[in-house]
Amino acid sequence: MIFDTHAHYDDDAFDEDREALLASLPQNGVEAVTNVGASLKGCRKSVEMARRYPHVYAAVGVHPDHVNELSEERLEWLEQTAREEKKVVAIGEIGLDYYWDISAHEVQKEWFRRQLKLAEKVGLPVIIHSREAAQDTFDLLKEEKAGDIGGVIHCYSGSVEMAREYVKMGFFIGIGGVLTFKNAKVIKAVAADIPLERIVLETDCPYLAPVPYRGKRNCSLYLPHVVETLSEIRGVSPEEVIRITCENAKRLYRLSE
Ligand code: NI
Repeated sequence: MIFDTHAHYDDDAFDEDREALLASLPQNGVEAVTNVGASLKGCRKSVEMARRYPHVYAAVGVHPDHVNELSEERLEWLEQTAREEKKVVAIGEIGLDYYWDISAHEVQKEWFRRQLKLAEKVGLPVIIHSREAAQDTFDLLKEEKAGDIGGVIHCYSGSVEMAREYVKMGFFIGIGGVLTFKNAKVIKAVAADIPLERIVLETDCPYLAPVPYRGKRNCSLYLPHVVETLSEIRGVSPEEVIRITCENAKRLYRLSE
């Protein structure tokens, strides 16, 4: 079954039908979802959902757009939550965002480093967000020897060469709806190039719905469209894509069978 390694079901876009949608996933081929915190509020909601649904896991971390929420005290809260909540499987999403560019780059980098160190301390993998900051993200992760921490480069948008480097460091590459877009040549090349054992599926829902739902609200139930595209690119059956990426997700989040 499918493992959605990156979702935001805490988003307001799901207020109308969150319960019904989440409850319906297992009977529709989605075995598990990791709900990823982006803000502190998102982290709290992710933990609540993970407590409530057996098939939902949580990641806690603060996205570069929200690092102005962080303080020593709040970083401690993240650490405590990561340690105490059994279904917190990663620290994320954390990283750099020069597209929205809400905080100064140095401020973003500082909190990125602090949260990487936190992940190392609590022994959890990281979920990396990088937008228009590919080289800085890569350099910082190298500097911090983040390969030893492990994790996923979520919604990967860099070059084939950089993807190969990340794979060498031990990272997984997160691939979602963008793969189905007609103009997405680079990510298609990445998906064809790196080992299938390093690819995990993700929605980033409510964002980035695959074709034919492009522009609409995304959800885990649309992942078969990404599977289909990946299956064509790799020349393996959709069943095989689902099986392998699900195993990968469990290795990424260190979930024993
Ligand atoms: Ni996300």
